[in-house]
Amino acid sequence: MKLYILFSFLLLAVICSCLVDASQVKLGPLCNGNSKNRIRGCDGKYGCGYYGASRDGGKRKHQGVDIVCADGATVYAPFNVKLNGKAAPYKKNNAINDGINLSGEGLCFKLFYVKPIKYSGTLRKGQKIGTMLPMQKVYPGITSHLHFQMCDKSDPTKYF
Ligand SMILES: *[C@@H]1O[C@H](CO)[C@@H](O)[C@H](O)[C@H]1NC(C)=O
Repeated sequence: MKLYILFSFLLLAVICSCLVDASQVKLGPLCNGNSKNRIRGCDGKYGCGYYGASRDGGKRKHQGVDIVCADGATVYAPFNVKLNGKAAPYKKNNAINDGINLSGEGLCFKLFYVKPIKYSGTLRKGQKIGTMLPMQKVYPGITSHLHFQMCDKSDPTKYF
């Protein structure tokens, strides 16, 4: 019985340390001009940039976080990454309908609104992934931003 309790504690300790590790992945800057990966606040009719924010008048919830990034800015790899192909946000094409599926540090995520320099291969932390697309053309007045979304749509806020 005592051994069983001890074992349970050990198991719990191992599980807890794994959870802590996953949230300690430290992301380097994603966008030139936003060294702290600042998350977009709220701008009027376009809503807010945090995970779970309301979209389409409450019909949907925001499934990622928006990282402030000016149109035309250089986008960087936040850690060593593998590029897993194109990931476009919209069914109907427009000026910002591009992005990329990336993995690294045990995470799989997508970046929207960036024109990548390539769709496969690898990049090291801090290397250029691509260029921020002209978001002002599609959403005039919005705080231009990259959309960062986990492949499993879980909340990525803890990485920022
Ligand atoms: C992203 O790429 C990975 C690796 O190829 C794949 O397993 C995953 O399904 C892709 N995720 C999405 C949401 O496209």
